[in-house]
This record gives sequence, C-alpha cells and structure tokens, in this order.
Amino acid sequence: ENDALARAESLIGVIPDYPSPGILFRDITPMLADAAALRACIGALVEPFAGRFDVVAGIEARGFLLAGAVAAAAGVGLVPIRKAGKLPRPAVSVDYALEYGTATIEAHDDLPEGCRVLLLDDVLATGGTLAAAQRLVGRLGCVVAGSAVLLELDGLGGRALAGDDVHTLFHA
Ligand code: PRP
Ligand code: MG
Repeated sequence: ENDALARAESLIGVIPDYPSPGILFRDITPMLADAAALRACIGALVEPFAGRFDVVAGIEARGFLLAGAVAAAAGVGLVPIRKAGKLPRPAVSVDYALEYGTATIEAHDDLPEGCRVLLLDDVLATGGTLAAAQRLVGRLGCVVAGSAVLLELDGLGGRALAGDDVHTLFHA
C-alpha cells in the first residue's frame, strides 16, 4: 500500500516549460496509466472520508479523471463541475479569480438539499479552483464532505483559500 503510493508518486512527471516558459507542469498521466498506482491513489484519496459522503464531484478537466474512479470504487454517484457554458440544464455558477482575469465553474442544480459532496481535483496550487468548487457546493444547498487532491504545490498558499483540511496525497 505505501509502496504502491510511493511508486504512484514517482510516476507523476515534471515537464519544464509547459504550457509556457518557466512553468513546471505536473503530468499525472503515467500514474493514471498504471493499474496498481491508480488503484492505490484512488483508495488513498477516499480513505479519510469513507462512509461520510453521498456523491463525488470532479472539477473539469483533470478532476474528472479521478472522480469517476473514486465514485465507482466508493459506490456513489458522480457530479461533474464544469467550466462555463457546457451544461445543458439550469446550473449554479461561481466565478473565481485567475492570475489574469476570471473563470467560471458550474454544476447542475439538482442535488438533494444537504447532500454530502466529496470534491476531487488533481492539483492544489493557489487554491482558487478548489475554493470556488467549495462555494459552488454551498450554493447548491449541499455540504462539502471533504476536498481531496493528488498533489499539493507547496508555497502557493492553496490552503489559505481552500482550507487547511484539504486531503493531499503528495507534495511538491
Ligand atoms: C489546474 C489543475 C487544478 C487547478 C489548480 O486546472 O488541474 O484544477 O489548475 O490551480 P489553482 O489551485 O491555482 O486553482 P486547469 O484550470 O489548468 O485546467 P484543467 O484541469 O482543465 O487542465
Ligand atoms: Mg484542473
């Protein structure tokens, strides 16, 4: 279990100057492609929250890659949190700040009142995305059961925005 997680961590690549010069991109695709590593990560992401959530929400796009697997493993349903304009039915929107400009995420407004939502994403950086998703869950009349990410980029202040109780498997 710990061996599998250590191996999973070693399978997260670091790509210099992608998508732009000076950026160190974290590439989770080798980890996702490895059956044992993926299984270990999915188990470890959900472990602190076992039995304490009703649905999983994944944040577009890379959060989707984890949320489906977590939902299937935990035996709960899956809600996509999408970028603006992608959902066909009435949705709740939350705007958040980016380095330059703003972004919007949305979810369909049809979860039951008080539904406990486990939020999933791949990376916690500044925390803006996850904090917006947490606000969105509140706006839906639901409760954040927890927030879990594979990788936290330390030193970017993510916890100041997204909360000190974010569950993180790996740090960089
Ligand atoms: C990346 C990453 C997280 C977010 C973290 O997503 O997948 O969702 O940034 O950054 P933050 O903590 O500073 O908000 P991105 O918006 O690049 O899009 P993608 O998941 O669709 O690739
Ligand atoms: Mg993302």
